[in-house]
Amino acid sequence: MRIELTINHQTKSFEIRPNLLLMELLRQQRCYSVKHGCETGDCGACAALVNGKLVNTCIMLAAQADGADIITLEAIGAPERLDPLQAAFVDTGAIQCGYCTPAMILAAKELLDRNSHPTEADVRDALAGVLCRCTGYVKPVEAVLRAAQQR
Ligand code: FES
Ligand code: FES
Repeated sequence: MRIELTINHQTKSFEIRPNLLLMELLRQQRCYSVKHGCETGDCGACAALVNGKLVNTCIMLAAQADGADIITLEAIGAPERLDPLQAAFVDTGAIQCGYCTPAMILAAKELLDRNSHPTEADVRDALAGVLCRCTGYVKPVEAVLRAAQQR
């Protein structure tokens, strides 16, 4: 079957098998920030923004995303020009192995795009769907609150 997706501001058409997961398609498109974790919708590492909403792409078929606008971390900042959220994660030491970090940053972006002055509780709620195996959430929460102040 054929679908059309806009991935990181580029619209493309894809010939796919009906059971292809959105996570697989994004990684085939070199969006390696979309991490292959639990594949059951539990860890959040595969999250991307689909039409502005944080979605676990391992439990969404690519076919279900037909026509969608998808943003992954590849479209947020650049190595020489970090997004303020990325800089805040680095500056606060919120990144350890980094496996959860792309999804955390997208979750934070989704929050700050709808609520530019979040409380700590708002941030904790926004990050709750992304499981971090390395750390508690103290540093990531600090990073998001810091980035919010700079917006
Ligand atoms: S890999 Fe998708 S939620 Fe864990
Ligand atoms: S930094 Fe390692 S899983 Fe979160």
